[in-house]
Amino acid sequence: MMDLSATFIICFVMSLQCTFLGALPCPPVSSPNTTEFICSSPSLSDFPTGFPKQTQIISVEYTNISIISVDALRALPHLQELHLANNKLKTLPNSLFRDLPELTALDLTGNLLKDLPPGIFRNNSALKQLSLKGNQLTLLRPSWFQALRRLKILDLSNNKLKEVPDLCFDKLEQLTDLDLSHNFLHTLSAPMFQGLPRLTGLNLEVNRLQSIADETFHDIPELKFLFLQNNSLDKLPAKVFEPLKFLEMLDISHNRLSSLDPPFSGQVAEPGLDLSGNPWVCDCRMHALVNWAENNSVSLYSKKEMICSSPRDLEGRVVTSLNEFEFGSC
Ligand SMILES: *[C@@H]1O[C@H](CO)[C@@H](O)[C@H](O)[C@H]1NC(C)=O
Ligand SMILES: *[C@@H]1O[C@H](CO)[C@@H](O)[C@H](O)[C@H]1NC(C)=O
Ligand SMILES: *[C@@H]1O[C@H](CO)[C@@H](O)[C@H](O)[C@H]1NC(C)=O
Ligand SMILES: *[C@@H]1O[C@H](CO)[C@@H](O)[C@H](O)[C@H]1NC(C)=O
Ligand SMILES: *[C@@H]1O[C@H](CO)[C@@H](O)[C@H](O)[C@H]1NC(C)=O
Repeated sequence: MMDLSATFIICFVMSLQCTFLGALPCPPVSSPNTTEFICSSPSLSDFPTGFPKQTQIISVEYTNISIISVDALRALPHLQELHLANNKLKTLPNSLFRDLPELTALDLTGNLLKDLPPGIFRNNSALKQLSLKGNQLTLLRPSWFQALRRLKILDLSNNKLKEVPDLCFDKLEQLTDLDLSHNFLHTLSAPMFQGLPRLTGLNLEVNRLQSIADETFHDIPELKFLFLQNNSLDKLPAKVFEPLKFLEMLDISHNRLSSLDPPFSGQVAEPGLDLSGNPWVCDCRMHALVNWAENNSVSLYSKKEMICSSPRDLEGRVVTSLNEFEFGSC
């Protein structure tokens, strides 16, 4: 009964979708033209059946469902969005998405997926958005991404990925946003990002990155936003960011960098740079870096947390508060 009264309140507010919420059967008895179904009930443990052929959007989220049978989504030729976030899914059958030619958005956020069958997305070339955020993935299979020529947004954050196989994403020619944050990646190399000519956002924050190879960013020249904060980087190859002429934001805060040469030049926009939370050596190189930022209209973010850790007499000082005579010599 508690669920029902909650349903009535929500009904009142959202009169159209009301009958699909709460403890009512799911999918509900629908009018012939219903195209959108929302099922959300913490005790639901069987995937709903009986979606009509014209269905365009299905949301089955926050349920107790752990398995979906292979024919659960058969004969839904017009399905465009499938939201399956925050269930208890542990595995998915290989052919689950095979007959969904118009599927453009698939959300599997917050399940318990450790792996997926190699051919799971082979027929989903219409997909534009795919989220596997917040699962238990320990590896990526390049075959998952081979058919996804129209994919724009790929979210793989909050998994347990230690590496990205070479050429894993090389068919994702329309991809603009890639989120690999909150994983266990320890190194970056060029073959990881090959074949992503449209990429504008790359999020790698909160990994275990210790090294970045020289040519890592050569094949993603359109990149505008690069997030590398909260890793373990103690040095960067000279000119590693140089190919990124459209860079608008580079965040390398909370790493272990002690010195840095001006990281790029000749940017189209006036970029922002976050260098806070690193153990900076405030010598002539740091002086040159601060001058460079000023002369090139590079905005420094979180300046108050951009602190010298040496030489000793400057320990704890805010880098940008030093006058030109205070920086140590090299
Ligand atoms: C369903 O759609 C058809 C065509 O758009 C329309 O003629 C019909 O009245 C609709 N039926 C209902 C119950 O809304
Ligand atoms: C979810 O399913 C498990 C068994 O798979 C059961 O033990 C648990 O009570 C269920 N939880 C709810 C909220 O129904
Ligand atoms: C799915 O792909 C297989 C080959 O992988 C193909 O035979 C089949 O026709 C495709 N199905 C649809 C609905 O596109
Ligand atoms: C990044 O590191 C800083 C300093 O250790 C910490 O305060 C912050 O919470 C971290 N951010 C994330 C998103 O983990
Ligand atoms: C920045 O400009 C100052 C004068 O404002 C100049 O002395 C310095 O050489 C310039 N530094 C760089 C790195 O261009």
